[in-house]
Amino acid sequence: MSSSSFSCCWCLLSIFLPHLLSAKPKCTLPCPQDVAIYSKNLHTFLKWSPPINVSKGLVYRCQYKVYGEEQWVNIQKCMKIKTNVCDLSNETINYKEFYFARVKVTHPGCSNYSRTERFSPKQSKSLCI
Ligand SMILES: *[C@@H]1O[C@H](CO)[C@@H](O)[C@H](O)[C@H]1NC(C)=O
Ligand SMILES: *[C@@H]1O[C@H](CO)[C@@H](O)[C@H](O)[C@H]1NC(C)=O
Ligand SMILES: *[C@@H]1O[C@H](CO)[C@@H](O)[C@H](O)[C@H]1NC(C)=O
Repeated sequence: MSSSSFSCCWCLLSIFLPHLLSAKPKCTLPCPQDVAIYSKNLHTFLKWSPPINVSKGLVYRCQYKVYGEEQWVNIQKCMKIKTNVCDLSNETINYKEFYFARVKVTHPGCSNYSRTERFSPKQSKSLCI
């Protein structure tokens, strides 16, 4: 391959690569429902209900974000869970901060994320469940 055809390939690649990388598969499942934060025994939990019409055998992934920051962060213990609750006490320890949390279905198929309202660990409701 001559160096000019090489650089041409490279230039085509650099035009199309970003498009290839950003072409995420579309998630077609409905979102998890009733996403909420509650606290119990000094722990903070994210909980939700399954998407409408689908409830069995779903795997979920949860993330959180500090209010004012761009980046969503994976909650390591809730990356592949089959329960409808995630303990995010260790992620939301700063009582002076506000947070968001979100959850999506990752298997089978996937949903978009459902997000909480902004919450503070000190204000999170105590639910009796
Ligand atoms: C997921 O989000 C995308 C982009 O916002 C949207 O086009 C799509 O309809 C959403 N999927 C569902 C199932 O709501
Ligand atoms: C859920 O199931 C009901 C009854 O089968 C149907 O009418 C409705 O359109 C379904 N909703 C969604 C979002 O799939
Ligand atoms: C929180 O962190 C403590 C100490 O590192 C660890 O023992 C505990 O398992 C963690 N809990 C959760 C829910 O991540």
